[in-house]
Amino acid sequence: MGAVSERIRAPKGTHDLLPPVSEKFAAVEDTARRVFGSFGYAEIRTPIFESTDLFARSVGDTTDIVHKEMYTFADRKGRSLTLRPENTAGVVRALVEKGIQEMPRPIRLWYAGPQFRYEQPQAGRYREFRQIGVELLGVAGPAGDAEVLTMLFQFLEELGFTDLLANINCIPKGEARKAFSRALQEHVRPSLDRLGAEDRRRVEQNPLRLFDSKDPEAQSVLRGAPSTLEFLDDVSRAHHEELKRLLSLARVRFFEDPSVVRGLDYYTLTVYEVASERLGAQNAILGGGRYDELVHQLGGPPTPATGFAIGEDRLVEAMLTDVRPKKTLFFVIPDSSADFVYALDVASRIRACDHDSIVEVDLQGRGIVKGLSRAGQIAQEPNRYAFRVERVHAVLVGEKEREAGDVTIKNLSTGDQQTFQRSELAGRLGAARD
Ligand code: HAM
Repeated sequence: MGAVSERIRAPKGTHDLLPPVSEKFAAVEDTARRVFGSFGYAEIRTPIFESTDLFARSVGDTTDIVHKEMYTFADRKGRSLTLRPENTAGVVRALVEKGIQEMPRPIRLWYAGPQFRYEQPQAGRYREFRQIGVELLGVAGPAGDAEVLTMLFQFLEELGFTDLLANINCIPKGEARKAFSRALQEHVRPSLDRLGAEDRRRVEQNPLRLFDSKDPEAQSVLRGAPSTLEFLDDVSRAHHEELKRLLSLARVRFFEDPSVVRGLDYYTLTVYEVASERLGAQNAILGGGRYDELVHQLGGPPTPATGFAIGEDRLVEAMLTDVRPKKTLFFVIPDSSADFVYALDVASRIRACDHDSIVEVDLQGRGIVKGLSRAGQIAQEPNRYAFRVERVHAVLVGEKEREAGDVTIKNLSTGDQQTFQRSELAGRLGAARD
């Protein structure tokens, strides 16, 4: 063994979540569970890796995600597996496997978890990132899209985002989509020599995917291209118009943007993205839409579906509100090692009568004076502490208290200090909360 070990770093494109940031993620997920739960959405958890074929058949094998960004590996038996780049395909696979045709409709689900894409890391773009998503299956009409979007905006509002706007579009399906693809090819063909090999391949194989190109030349070729909205058949147009009406009634702020086509092949009709100016170039906080053909493509009965996924890392980066719940901290300070056992007993008594506060025992053995200064530091620098502390009480446990069976509690905001019997804790703490 060498004398000095080389440090191992986190793999490129990953980031660790340490307190207090990890507690912000937890608070966002708690809000998701509460808001989505109140609309009847229950949590689903699917595997982090899936058969590679699943993503090729759903996200689409000519998309950037499948073509360039998947973490694919062979397991010990030579099966091709892929770390999930997104969660919709896994959710649909799970439902089809469990017998979606037997399940009562609609099916309302949400999830939160890590996703993996081999992208060039930059601000807001990671190789391992987290998504919070929602899927609603079994509702064909625009009321389904409207429910999901209304719920999304309620969730965003609870996190303090009040100025966000959904950029929505409608992508034609079936024959209309083929006609749109042909029109797009005709528009681009005279300028093919301005495009790189990869974009030319997109034009031939899946023209809609040209919109995903990051090459400015491709973006300029697309200027003046036919709009998806011009190609909608009557039924699709009615769906889109009704959705806009429902969103206006629900006061969801939206903007119609025909350039939103999303980078995944499974979308039909409604698509949308929400961006935040507080983020840099990677400013899409979330994306979603309708995918009426995916369940059938993955072997289930034809089932309409709609949903979205939020990039949780980006969401937390853009968040200005501290969404962690406000807590009271009792910082229990034994004066010397002889007071530890008594301090532990006092701490458990406080926990037993106050389930919502944090009760921390100072284990450093630094004594009351230094312990008090640590408690003061927490009160003064709440952002450096894991939890969002609204009030700090120092609980002083010295020889005097131990011998008399007392506790001394000092409220660090008011300076108010009281000594009383530990058996009175429940009554005193209850009174302090009222
Ligand atoms: P997506 O647009 O590919 O859609 O991803 C949704 C969100 O995940 C993006 O808007 C972004 O915020 C976040 N995201 C994507 N890639 C990265 C990355 N490399 N680093 C950080 N954040 C990232 C989907 O995944 C669909 N499954 C959404 C959906 C659900 N559609 C219907 N249901």
